[in-house]
Order: sequence, then structure tokens, then C-alpha cells
Amino acid sequence: MRVSNGWRRFLIVLPLICFLPYFYSVRELHQSTTIGDLPTKKTKKFDHLVLGPAAGQGFPNRLHCQGSKALNKTHLSTSSHVSRFGDKIAFVTVFTIYNSSLNVRTDEKASNMVTVGNVSYSKEERSMAILNAFINFIQVTMPQSNIVILTDPASDLSMSRNGVTVYPIQGEYSRDKLMLQRIRSYIAFLETRLQELSQRPGQTNHYIFTDSDIAVVDNLGNIFHDFPNFHLALTFRNNKDQPLNSGFIAVRGTVDGILRAKNFLQKVLEVYKSKYIKASRMLGDQLALAWVVKSHPSFDARRFSKAQAFLEDVGDASLLFLPCAIYNWTPPEGAGQFHGVPLDVKVVHFKGSRKRLMLESWNFFSSSSNISDMLCLVLRSGRTKYDF
Ligand SMILES: *[C@@H]1O[C@H](CO)[C@@H](O)[C@H](O)[C@H]1NC(C)=O
Ligand SMILES: *[C@@H]1O[C@H](CO)[C@@H](O)[C@H](O)[C@H]1NC(C)=O
Ligand SMILES: *[C@@H]1O[C@H](CO)[C@@H](O)[C@H](O)[C@H]1NC(C)=O
Ligand SMILES: *[C@@H]1O[C@H](CO)[C@@H](O)[C@H](O)[C@H]1NC(C)=O
Repeated sequence: MRVSNGWRRFLIVLPLICFLPYFYSVRELHQSTTIGDLPTKKTKKFDHLVLGPAAGQGFPNRLHCQGSKALNKTHLSTSSHVSRFGDKIAFVTVFTIYNSSLNVRTDEKASNMVTVGNVSYSKEERSMAILNAFINFIQVTMPQSNIVILTDPASDLSMSRNGVTVYPIQGEYSRDKLMLQRIRSYIAFLETRLQELSQRPGQTNHYIFTDSDIAVVDNLGNIFHDFPNFHLALTFRNNKDQPLNSGFIAVRGTVDGILRAKNFLQKVLEVYKSKYIKASRMLGDQLALAWVVKSHPSFDARRFSKAQAFLEDVGDASLLFLPCAIYNWTPPEGAGQFHGVPLDVKVVHFKGSRKRLMLESWNFFSSSSNISDMLCLVLRSGRTKYDF
């Protein structure tokens, strides 16, 4: 049979369709919120779970799956030894919500609704659901930790859950300034911790500052235990322009740790304001982070090419660099290379439109109570573009 013209055209167009999403995803890897301004509108975005094959089969130390059943034992801690690392840990995230939907016309609101499981969400309800899923995962995998939500005093956030504290910090939380404000809020928060420590020294409380679209799937207490000398920890990937992700920053809760971490973040803030204030799509904080780290004379950026934790002094702070593959793992969208999920993954980051998958994953976990199986779901679905 001869290949018709139509088919020939199709065969030529097909590779383009496959590779376009990957091409865009390189630019949006670090983008945690809007993807709407990218020319991806032609890509179909799904309003329901779409499962594909599980990547990484055949690779050692990668999770193998049969359907959504995990075939390997992952290294996940069981709740019987969650408290083995002693010191307390608090997760800190910046989150604001404004009840603007109250002014939105009903028909407009209806067209923006999305449904996950049996629940329909407006835009605002969607972000609240993400925040709640973020808290849910932490309370399962690290039940003894606290969660602090830094918010705009003008935000309409109300949250009454055990172990969760809402902490208003004055600032400018508008969308285009949010990443700048986030560093400011982190610094302001660390200042209050220093004051508190000087008045009431006592048990050490470490801090992990994160985006709220992450699922903590294993206990993170090991970081402070296994690497006893760092002040601040960052996650890195092998990416030339944006090796550091700002979505995960750990701070040792000693006076020294908090003070030096605060100084480091102040330096990042200065660089952000002086060099990257115009950086598009809110990437300024990551560019500033990378600039501060790389500008240190003894720093060897080649260390980012190997997914292995390392320590390095930058300024007066001892920094711990943790591989994103374990501490900030994101399933790649599109058709890029993908070798599955490491068996020892601890944090899954549902960047961009994967946020639907975060809610689906929580629903799946609620009924299966099995994090390994849930990781199979994420693995098989993480490359899909969703409607969130
Ligand atoms: C999770 O499920 C897998 C099989 O899908 C099983 O091997 C494992 O023991 C389960 N884990 C827990 C904690 O139940
Ligand atoms: C994970 O499971 C697969 C399939 O059963 C197996 O081939 C692989 O060796 C296992 N990996 C590890 C590290 O146990
Ligand atoms: C959704 O609703 C159906 C029918 O009412 C019910 O069987 C199912 O358990 C519900 N699922 C969830 C996730 O609540
Ligand atoms: C705003 O919305 C949140 C979340 O839906 C709700 O809990 C809160 O009561 C609302 N606040 C006001 C002032 O309406």
C-alpha cells in the first residue's frame, strides 16, 4: 500500500507534536504556577487522570510498577520510626487567597470549575485543596512536624487544623512580586525565630521552606541528622541556567543556623532586586540563588552534574546541596528523557499543571494507604498536561 499524502503529512507532523511539549517544559521546569502564558494552548489538557507506561523499568534503583501496584519495596520509613531523628521540624510555606470569586459572575465561575473525584472546585477552592493536600501528606509521613503558613494580613485565608499555624507577615503579595515577597517573608519569619530563641532557648526546631504544591512522601528528618554541619540546604539539578530550585530550602534551627541562613537569603534578596527584578515569569529568585552560589570563587558548578549531596561554604554559611531527584522530584511533562522515579524519593513536586495529579494522588492514597503504589500512579501520569 502506498503512503497517501495525508499520511505523509501526518508522519512529518507527528514528531513535532511529540517534541513541542518537551521543548516548552524545559522553560517551565521551575515554574510552579501559571503556564497559561506559554504558547501551549494547542496542547490538549486533560480534566481526568491519564495513565501511561511507567518509566524507568529495567533501571536499577528505580521504582518498578505493575499497573498501579509497586513491585519494589521503596525506602520509605514506616510510621514506627518516624521520630527517630529527635529534633522537631516545621514546614513553612507562603500562601495567600483573596475571595475575589465573590465578585465573579456566576456563569463565569461555572466555566472555571474543575472536578477531581467527586468534588468540583472554583479557582480559589482549587488552591485551598492543594494547600490541604500539602498538609495531609506531611501529617501522614511526618506526623510530629508542624506547618506554618506565612500569609498576607489582607488574605482571606482561614485554616483550623491541628499542627497548622497561620502567620501573617506584612508585605506586597501581588502576583508579579510574589517570589520577591516570599524571600522577604522567609527572612522576616527567621527574624522572629531568632528573637524567640534568644528569649526561650530550648529544643531545636528546624525549618523547611517549601512551595505548597509538593507531597512529602518520606520523613525528612534524616537531612539534619545525616549532615550535622550545614546551616541551609538547597536542591539542585543538572541544568546549566537554573541549577537551583527555590521550592525547597531547609534551615537548621540553631541560633547559628538561623542567623547565617537569614544572611544568605538577604544576599539573595539583594541580588534579586539589583539584577533580576525584571526576570520574567517569577524566576528571579532562582536566578538570584544560582548567582549568589556560583559567584563564590571556590564553587565548582560541575558538581551539579552528579545527583549526589555535597556541602560547600558560601559566604559565612555552610550550604548543603541536595539532589532534586530525591528531595524535589518532578515528573517531566512531554516527551523528554525520563528514567522513572528513584526508590528513595522523599519529595514529589507537582509543578505547573500537575497540580491536578497532586489531588488525584491524595485521593488515591486515601483509599489505598500505600505511598509506593501512589508513586506508581504519579509515575504513570506525571507527563500528562492537566487542566489546573
Ligand atoms: C504497598 O503495596 C505493595 C504492593 O503493591 C506491597 O508490596 C507493600 O508491602 C505495600 N506497602 C504497605 C506499607 O502496605
Ligand atoms: C525492583 O523490582 C524489579 C521488578 O520486580 C526488579 O527487577 C528490580 O531488581 C527491583 N529493584 C531493586 C533495587 O530491588
Ligand atoms: C464518588 O461518588 C460515588 C457515587 O456516589 C461513590 O461510590 C464514590 O465512592 C465517591 N468517590 C469518592 C472519591 O468520594
Ligand atoms: C474566604 O474564603 C475562605 C475559603 O473559601 C473562607 O474560609 C473564608 O471564610 C472567606 N472569607 C471571607 C471574609 O469571606
